[in-house]
Amino acid sequence: MRTTYYKVDPVNPDRGVLTEAAKLLRQGGLVAFPTETVYGLGANGLDSKAVGGIFRAKGRPSDNPLILHIDTPDKLSKLAATVPASAQALIDKYWPGPLTVVVKRLPHVPDAVTGGLDTVAVRLPDSLIARELIRLAGIPVAAPSANTSGRPSPTTAQDVARDLDGKIDAIIDAGPCAIGVESTVVDCTTPVPTLLRPGGITYEMLIAVLGEIEVDPSLAGSTAVPRSPGMKYTHYAPAAPMFLVEAGQESLSFLLRREINQALAAGKTVGAVVSAEVANELPQQVITAVYGPRAHTGVIAANLYTALRSFDNKAVDVIYAEGIAEQGLGLAVMNRLRKASGYRIICE
Ligand code: TXA
Ligand code: MG
Repeated sequence: MRTTYYKVDPVNPDRGVLTEAAKLLRQGGLVAFPTETVYGLGANGLDSKAVGGIFRAKGRPSDNPLILHIDTPDKLSKLAATVPASAQALIDKYWPGPLTVVVKRLPHVPDAVTGGLDTVAVRLPDSLIARELIRLAGIPVAAPSANTSGRPSPTTAQDVARDLDGKIDAIIDAGPCAIGVESTVVDCTTPVPTLLRPGGITYEMLIAVLGEIEVDPSLAGSTAVPRSPGMKYTHYAPAAPMFLVEAGQESLSFLLRREINQALAAGKTVGAVVSAEVANELPQQVITAVYGPRAHTGVIAANLYTALRSFDNKAVDVIYAEGIAEQGLGLAVMNRLRKASGYRIICE
């Protein structure tokens, strides 16, 4: 399959291009498009065959359900059997934006989308291009992150191309994504809503609306069966094995340098995913990817996947990543780093 590349201005997108891409979606094609979180791989969310193409292109296990993307809040009632008060309160406050709500589904939502569950995940993105594309297509758009399953999510069109060129119909390039980590997923079908995946809408922002929220046990790294099927798979991982160092700020740099020096002494080529502050303290021969200044979790989130992907074409034997505090977007960043490391965590 030949992939068509479209370049559009993020603020003033060419409607002609979006109309063409929307037509591809309506015809059952696969179109990668930007959102404020990461690039999505879109297909007609009501067409099981088109949705099947997503799983094939990504190499995604078929029991990992997809998010349906809509362009206006009223479309939720066409997909959801009921909209609980918790979901409505979150939507009123945070849509459009990086928030996905899980609600009971209506029967016409395909099993291919929900992985056979009786619930469906729905999101209204803030990205102008994403919303305009969905509006022009006139259908809910099923869209997982536009990466090969297991790889770091794509935050640029080049990331998408690297994984999916030749496997999908088109890629809409509108430059890098602003947030850089995926949407927050909240299950609103439980008596107290449950946080399934931390993301662009922070825990603190959820509490501000809901008062209380449960956190899925899998987020604490426990071995309990995750309620969000996607959480049981290895994710976001770079090619080389990665170790995550978690410690207070005083001991972090010391621990990282100790581990790195041991690996270097063993003759290994070492990579590091670290803050600007720690990068300055590492031995010269370490191949570093700087994710940003320690105090700026927003910058770190935006750069995280690019930092992980920077090792794609570098022959490192092992990578060490620096953990950050779990406040604000830090919770989402740490969730992704833990998964990317396959839970190989080094503590004090
Ligand atoms: O920011 C995002 O959410 C991006 C952009 C493209 O919108 N999309 C995204 O999709 O991250 P994906 O497929 O990579 O992640 C969807 C997550 C998975 O963890 C999946 O298991 C969970 O949402 N999910 C989907 N439907 C669900 C359901 N019915 N119940 C529980 N979890 C669900
Ligand atoms: Mg994904």
